[in-house]
Amino acid sequence: MEVLIFPDATSLARKSADLVESQIKTFPDSVLGLATGSTPLGLYQELIRRHQQEGLSFAGVKTFNLDEYVGIASNHPQSYRTFMDENLFDRIDIEKSNTQVPDGMAENPLEVGPAYEQSIQEARGIDLQVLGVGTDGHIGFNEPTSSLKSITRVKTLTKQTIEDNSRFFEPGEFQPKLAITMGIQTILDARRILLLAHGENKAEAIRDMVEGPLSAFCPASALQFHQRTTVLIDEAAASKLALGNYYKFVGEMQDELVRTHRPSDWISR
Ligand code: GLP
Repeated sequence: MEVLIFPDATSLARKSADLVESQIKTFPDSVLGLATGSTPLGLYQELIRRHQQEGLSFAGVKTFNLDEYVGIASNHPQSYRTFMDENLFDRIDIEKSNTQVPDGMAENPLEVGPAYEQSIQEARGIDLQVLGVGTDGHIGFNEPTSSLKSITRVKTLTKQTIEDNSRFFEPGEFQPKLAITMGIQTILDARRILLLAHGENKAEAIRDMVEGPLSAFCPASALQFHQRTTVLIDEAAASKLALGNYYKFVGEMQDELVRTHRPSDWISR
């Protein structure tokens, strides 16, 4: 796992946008896996800015979102489809038909997973997956004790996740307790992964993910098995890491290597 620590959320967003931009400039038909939540908003804003001001094009890009609530229509203000449309898709030149979010209103939610997996396969897999992390270490909606081999399916949310996400719902409004989410194996199948996190409330999850034992109790720790995961975090999210200074040193050495050898092999395909 490569761990990059940034002084603030703005520089973190800029670097993650650099990585996404390199991916889609090198392979304009890239398949991106995307996340919702407050964490990737800075990345999406920066991508929109680069589209509007610098002509960065998403015309050939396909996307698959990680997850969606069960029981919420795609046009509901709190659906992850609405989130993606408002915060990214409606503001760049992507073909809407090339963007997929699991259907939270499917007649049989149990049938959504296998079909979603098939669509990902038909798109020849995910080149670059963007992830956030829950305070309990979940990725997508793979809550603690999710199978490390899981694929897209219905999951029950933990109390902690329901509480964390209650800020988006009006008091008394229906708040989903179930979600359809890519599985941990689905995520691990992505060729390249960028996990973003900022803020002190993510510090424990980041510590358990990077340095804790590999365990389904912290689903994000499964990323220790992935060959090309980059973790982009701010100082606050890095504050509980035992080897924070080492990761910074690694970053300096990497910069030195890039300066002298210009390796560009991180781009996935
Ligand atoms: C939700 C999403 C995750 C996201 C997490 C963190 O539960 N399913 O994909 O990473 O929240 O959200 P935030 O970025 O708002 O902290």
